[in-house]
Amino acid sequence: MAVIGIMSALHEELAAVLAEMPGEQRVTVAGRDFWVGQWQGHAVVAVLSRIGKVAAATTATLMLERFGVDALVFTGVAGGLGPGVRVGDVVVASGLVQHDMDASPLFPRHEVPLYGRAIFETDAALSTQLAEAAHEVLQEADRHLGPDTWARWAWGSPQMHRGLIVSGDRFVSTATESQALREALPDALAVEMEGAAVAQVCCDYGVPFTAVRTISDRADDAAHTDFNRFISEVASPYSRAILAHWLAKRLTA
Ligand code: ADE
Repeated sequence: MAVIGIMSALHEELAAVLAEMPGEQRVTVAGRDFWVGQWQGHAVVAVLSRIGKVAAATTATLMLERFGVDALVFTGVAGGLGPGVRVGDVVVASGLVQHDMDASPLFPRHEVPLYGRAIFETDAALSTQLAEAAHEVLQEADRHLGPDTWARWAWGSPQMHRGLIVSGDRFVSTATESQALREALPDALAVEMEGAAVAQVCCDYGVPFTAVRTISDRADDAAHTDFNRFISEVASPYSRAILAHWLAKRLTA
């Protein structure tokens, strides 16, 4: 049976996933707890990614080397960069770039040396499946979040976007910085701190990968407001529901 790896960026998200995996076994490697079990008849390994590109790359490498996962999905939150990418929306990555990679003038800005490219594409089939699941969940977002939560955050209709996510070792929390990112990478929809590193590791191993991020802020001067509350009330229920929809439709093989 194919083994699915789930990397969650946040404790609350991982807890929501583990609640769906009764009887999971903990295996500790390199200070990380990997949870091995089943979800909806699929063999699943779930782990906290840890924060930042190096920590996430180590976690991803262990997922592939020690646990032999056949596909890897990353869930977490991100700051919205693209026009119309608002708090409460979900972005499914079609590709990822390290926005802080710059070996110029030896290599073009953002290009990862010796890979000959800046963008690491996600697996098309996996991304389409997750995008469909995200779209279905967002159509009934109030049901997944609960009516009180929905009313408190006072949104219109949350949207699902597909496109470029950029990653770097910075929490982007000023309008100046997010504007600079928009100018350097005009196609970027969202910014976070791990995805492009995990995409590079999965590329090295030839393992299908995609990333799903709930927009928690606009990567501007208000980026830290209500962050923790958003994660527990919105991002974690979204992740759990999106993964559950996806696994329910995915055939066991
Ligand atoms: N994750 C969520 N919001 C973010 C931001 N503004 N910058 C980097 N990573 C994030």
